[in-house]
Amino acid sequence: MKTESGALQGRRILVAVSGSIAAVKTPLLVSALVKAGAQVRCVVTPSAAQLVSPVALASLSRHRCYQDDDQWDPREPRPLHVALAEWAELVIVAPLSASTLARWTQGMGDGLLASLLLACERPVVAAAAMNTGMWSQPAVRRNWALLADDPRVLRLAPESGLLACDRIGDGRMADPELIRLAAESALLTQASNGSLPWDWQGRTVLVSAGPTVEGIDPARVLSNRSSGRMGVLIAQAARFRGASVHLVHGPLQLPLAWLEGLHCQAIESAEQMQEHLHRLQANAAAVVMAAAVADWRRQGGASVQKAPKADLQRTLAEQLEPVPDLLKELQATKPDGQRLLGFAALSGSDDEIQALARDKRAAKGCDLLMANPIDRNGQGFGAAMNGGWLVKTDGSTEGVPVMDKLALAHRLLDQLVDCF
Ligand SMILES: Cc1cc2nc3c(=O)[nH]c(=O)nc-3n(C[C@H](O)[C@H](O)[C@H](O)COP(=O)(O)O)c2cc1C
Repeated sequence: MKTESGALQGRRILVAVSGSIAAVKTPLLVSALVKAGAQVRCVVTPSAAQLVSPVALASLSRHRCYQDDDQWDPREPRPLHVALAEWAELVIVAPLSASTLARWTQGMGDGLLASLLLACERPVVAAAAMNTGMWSQPAVRRNWALLADDPRVLRLAPESGLLACDRIGDGRMADPELIRLAAESALLTQASNGSLPWDWQGRTVLVSAGPTVEGIDPARVLSNRSSGRMGVLIAQAARFRGASVHLVHGPLQLPLAWLEGLHCQAIESAEQMQEHLHRLQANAAAVVMAAAVADWRRQGGASVQKAPKADLQRTLAEQLEPVPDLLKELQATKPDGQRLLGFAALSGSDDEIQALARDKRAAKGCDLLMANPIDRNGQGFGAAMNGGWLVKTDGSTEGVPVMDKLALAHRLLDQLVDCF
């Protein structure tokens, strides 16, 4: 698992584990958090301790793993559930079982984990996991819905998949890599009272990400180095802030777990991307065009036969056509009130990039244009970091320091939501 952002460095995270078989994956999460520089403490319920070894959690977190008996240890100078709740800057409940969910939402504090959830005033990332039948019970769904009333709680609903009970259906815990991303997001965005931002709640966001791939023949393509990371992180950041997100993406180079919870449409060519963006545009409150669409393609699409090497130069010289400008098209077809954010991958001096970005924003007409240099080490295409200049409708530019792409995603969403 990758550990790319500084958002977890030195942060105090409490991982609370309840009795779902998905607890066998929690050590991976703990390990990833520790590798990213976080200080981690683990708490297990008695059922969780049957399913995952507290010794493993202690080793991976470099600290003892707390259990119910510890709450009544006369050597503890303060009530342990209060001390742990106050120590944590963030709590992750992974997995969240149906029983622990019920205790939490009914305000019952029996057991160390349940009582620390009640004592906690910081953000909580909750990753539910259970058998499909349990998850579909009205009582469980009611309890899950109740959690949405608490602005500190970031809910990660179970994903669909093959479950340990041999059923295929909803119930699989969110991937530890997505839980890690949600934790980073919560730490980046929490207010001083522990609330998370829900300013995108009720809005649909359409995001494009990654490169397009234009076939020349069965062997050769025209494409670019975009990894899709910036767009996918904007999509997840919007989702963590309450939006329903549609993502249209080319081939990606990032953890596939980052796609969980999004409505995804995978494409290859610009033509396919164009078709899906136009289909999905009408219902979106905002469109973020972060994809790196190829500039040229072969007229009529890829040939069935592989072009002989000797003919390739002529093929490329005579049969290429420009790819339609998707950002400009989206601006032309956008419904009233829709907000549009575009990206410009540019190279050159700071002044050159800003001038090019201003011209590009004016030509495209979008509400915001994020110009990011792609000729500097450690930022831009494929990198974990990004920065540059944000150009607004009045032509003004705002410098954006180089930062982790998830932090930038949130900053761009702050700006975009201000446009409504
Ligand atoms: C092998 C096994 C797997 C279980 N998996 C789940 C599960 O995925 N989700 C769940 O809510 N309960 C599951 N349970 C049931 C819970 O462990 C049980 O409801 C327990 O009371 C949960 O208590 P806790 O929330 O205090 O950990 C499982 C039980 C067993 C024996």
